[in-house]
Amino acid sequence: MSFSNDELKIKIIELKERLDVTVVSHFYQRDEVFEMGDITGDSLELAKKTMDDSAKYVVFCGVGFMGESVKVMSPQKRVVMPKIACCSMARMIDSTYYDDAVKYLNDNGISKENILPITYINSNAEVKAKVGEMGGMVCTSSNAKTIITNALKENKKILFVPDRCLGVNIANQMGLPSMIIGEDKNPNDCDIICYDGFCAVHQLFTLDDIKFYRKKFPGIKIVVHPECDPELCDASDFVGSTSQIIKYIKEIDPEQKVAVGTEFNLVNRLRDKNTYVLSSTKPECPTMNETTLQDLYDTLKSIEDDKVINEIFLDPNTQKWAKIALERMLAL
Ligand code: 13P
Ligand code: SF4
Repeated sequence: MSFSNDELKIKIIELKERLDVTVVSHFYQRDEVFEMGDITGDSLELAKKTMDDSAKYVVFCGVGFMGESVKVMSPQKRVVMPKIACCSMARMIDSTYYDDAVKYLNDNGISKENILPITYINSNAEVKAKVGEMGGMVCTSSNAKTIITNALKENKKILFVPDRCLGVNIANQMGLPSMIIGEDKNPNDCDIICYDGFCAVHQLFTLDDIKFYRKKFPGIKIVVHPECDPELCDASDFVGSTSQIIKYIKEIDPEQKVAVGTEFNLVNRLRDKNTYVLSSTKPECPTMNETTLQDLYDTLKSIEDDKVINEIFLDPNTQKWAKIALERMLAL
């Protein structure tokens, strides 16, 4: 039997009241799913707030690595995802590709002891565990600069995976030499060596989009996520995580025009006569959009019926080392 969205919302709210669950939603979720979230935020906020929450079940509306991170940090919780959708950037690296990146540095005379790996939170638990085992840590888009500043104190080469854009953007901000594996540069001359991963959604924003909006509305502010290309970030007025973007827009003069370069659902929620999507192509994240209200309802119902679906499980070694990598980040 199928229900309308309004009927589903009522049923979901009733189930949430009856069950020991917390529903968590990332900003990129569809509006109707986002509305059902008890906890919302950027990746870092979701990880932290969920750790402090006492419900037995976490129903995570987002992409796979986010649900996994909750399970890593709180193994006693039962973490379920209405859709275990895999972020396409996270999918660009697994433990074999990670080992290849380390080997590339080794082949260039940089030993394992002289590498400090940092993985963006947009990676699977297996990669986080590899990084943890090598003495490294996780970062998110909101704390990458702090994490890298601290890591540099160890006087090692930073191997940054998987997002080349975030890695190069932070290096540029800090005036550090960097490279992307595959580029014709010597890693010995660089402080940050980035893996060649990227977010296909944030690649949709172009310098032409910025030129268009600056010409159309002189004085407009351009705001982008650091997963955008470095030349785009350099040409923007503000670069920040999803939460930082929302805060920036809420705090500026409501008459100020702004064009925003990040996922459509978030920007659309902010949209008014002065806030624009920085693209002529709808920048939707396909995997974030996979989760529907029906999926959320089915998942909650499966908990009520004691036939839990889409639960996250991790092997103990992955759990242990990924937790260490995440804890090193949280300690900072
Ligand atoms: P935030 O950490 O800024 O929420 O970003 C997550 C993400 O996947 C951006 O594409
Ligand atoms: Fe992954 Fe990009 Fe989607 Fe974020 S927007 S979840 S980085 S594919």
